Amino acid sequence: MIRAKIGGIGYYVPEKVVTNHDLTKVMDTSDEWIRERTGIQERRYAEKHVETTSTLGVKAAEIAIERAGITAKDVDFIIFATLSPDYYFPGSGVLLQRAMGMQGIGALDIRNQCSGFVYGLSIAEQFVRTGMYKNVLLVGAEMHSCGLDFTTRGRGVSVIFGDGGGAVVVQPSEDENRGILSTHLHANGDGAEQLAYLNPGSHGGVHFEDKERFGYPEDQEFGGIFLTQKMIDDEDLYPNMNGQAVFKYAVTKFPEVIKEALDTNGYTAADIDMLVPHQANLRISQFVQKRLGLADDKVWNNIQKYGNTTAASIPIALCEAWEAGAVKEGDLVCLAAFGSGFTWGSALIRW
Ligand code: ACO
Repeated sequence: MIRAKIGGIGYYVPEKVVTNHDLTKVMDTSDEWIRERTGIQERRYAEKHVETTSTLGVKAAEIAIERAGITAKDVDFIIFATLSPDYYFPGSGVLLQRAMGMQGIGALDIRNQCSGFVYGLSIAEQFVRTGMYKNVLLVGAEMHSCGLDFTTRGRGVSVIFGDGGGAVVVQPSEDENRGILSTHLHANGDGAEQLAYLNPGSHGGVHFEDKERFGYPEDQEFGGIFLTQKMIDDEDLYPNMNGQAVFKYAVTKFPEVIKEALDTNGYTAADIDMLVPHQANLRISQFVQKRLGLADDKVWNNIQKYGNTTAASIPIALCEAWEAGAVKEGDLVCLAAFGSGFTWGSALIRW
């Protein structure tokens, strides 16, 4: 089978820089608390009413397409990973397609949160390896700033996330020793509610002991569960996160799935030239780095500047590393992700 490679990569982050100090003006938090727990110093927020998740994706995709040496007309499939789409439905993939004049080809939206890029890369790889498509555009983009609780109640979550987009074009590799060596995908739905955006939705309280929380009307024969007045009144419309549960699971699964990628290909951690972990939290990345015994220059971290951009974080970090010359031809690059679901995965690439 033909091997697949990343033929072009690009990223875009909005211009507006929001520092930790800026957040202290709207909620009870501090630069010290945020830096100590997450490593984040600032993040970017998209321009409301002008930018959207799909427009961030378009800007990244334009760069990736140009660097792949093709035009938008050559793309034959789109995969769009996001948890903050422009619309509940349809997905952002068709909006990006419309904006870039690529109508007619397939557009797949995937909902794998922080693991979205690695999941998407695995899907793109399969399409290319089977020979079905030659230029798969994979985009990860998020506009978190439109859906966070900017009051003190939401501070545990809101300070972490930022906006941005990253994109790659996955193509057949001319050299069978170079490209994506393997991908490894996992999930455990036992942790689904530990990091989740529940409402609106069809769950109807089924997964909860405390159904009262959602205020479902008892006298309504049809409907009445998707969005209730109580959800609005209680502002039960923001992401929930059990930070400590996420932390514990993440620091186990990151090293495990990286080791799986290395073992599959007969490598050890010492062979890694660059590890690009999903930028969840600097403390998580540092823990993983220590566990694997990697030097500082073998791990790319940029959460300090952009916060956690979920599906966009790996392509943004990978692109930055590549632009800085820290990922070079022939390097062994490992991508690793962990996120809501819980989902996690890795990809090993001979660049
Ligand atoms: N500013 C100031 N104080 C805060 C803030 C804030 N932004 N957020 C929470 N606090 C307070 C809490 O209210 C609490 O106060 P209390 O002790 O008076 O009740 C105190 O700080 C400690 O709160 P914890 O939630 O216990 O803080 P913790 O030490 O667990 O740190 C954090 C929270 C940073 C989220 C941590 O659990 C963590 O790193 N978790 C991993 C989750 C993660 O990285 N998620 C990223 C997104 S998911 C992903 O990408 C995989």
